[in-house]
Amino acid sequence: MYDPCSKTLFIGKKIVYLPTCHSTNDIAAELVRNENLPEGTIVITDAQTAGRGQRGARWVTTHGHNLTFSLVLRPTFLVASEQFLLSQAMALGVKRFVSGFTEEVYIKWPNDLYVNDLKIGGILIENVWQGARMTHAVVGIGLNINQTDFESNPFSKTSSASWRATSLRLETGQMFELAVQLPYLLHCLEQAYLYLRAGQYEQIRNDYQAVLLGYGEKRLFRKNGEVFEGLVAGVTAAGRLCIQHSDETRQEYDIREVEWLWPDSHSSPEMP
Ligand code: BTN
Repeated sequence: MYDPCSKTLFIGKKIVYLPTCHSTNDIAAELVRNENLPEGTIVITDAQTAGRGQRGARWVTTHGHNLTFSLVLRPTFLVASEQFLLSQAMALGVKRFVSGFTEEVYIKWPNDLYVNDLKIGGILIENVWQGARMTHAVVGIGLNINQTDFESNPFSKTSSASWRATSLRLETGQMFELAVQLPYLLHCLEQAYLYLRAGQYEQIRNDYQAVLLGYGEKRLFRKNGEVFEGLVAGVTAAGRLCIQHSDETRQEYDIREVEWLWPDSHSSPEMP
């Protein structure tokens, strides 16, 4: 169903297509452990039975409607303190692809893709280290392409996240052929990765901040059950969110520490 990518140098030259699987991240991790997989290999599926999102959330999408895949990279040039750059670069790559179709595309910290405050895609990156060096990373990407009904997503009913989701189809009114769009997305990801590999770290950080959702705005957060308002002041090199409080003090938060809230729900959207 998916041909080796003709628009890239190495990403998507090898494609492992599985009509269904539990999680492409798990399959890619298993493959890379057991064989010498070329960098840029992708594992792609029409449907996952146990798709995983951030913070232990499930990732559930309608069969065959969206792009659901994992990309194997070997960013051995990154040290631990630089690993957030991979997350930023991948989010910028997906953002560039989505921006080809619609406006108002932002990255919600740390690497969710949003259009008009609605989630269109998510990224789950799992890094593997040997000592101080990264040996490989599995970059799992779920991008909502043709899905229009997020209510039938069984998980979203319980998380009340369905109203926070969108897709390229909902944004543009068009239907997309997944196999036609994938090479364009892979091209955007490769460009972003080559930029990272070329050491353009400051540029990546600046580009990321320029499209960071809520940057310079007051937003709602929750920490240890307590809701508070704070100004999104940026993201540190280590990937911590910097929030300025009403008394002008600034604090940095880890992804596990603070939850982003939406004013009308007080629930976080963890699903597409
Ligand atoms: C998130 O926003 O919480 C991240 C979602 C990542 C979902 C993708 S779909 C392909 C890959 N396989 C998984 O199990 N998860 C990622």
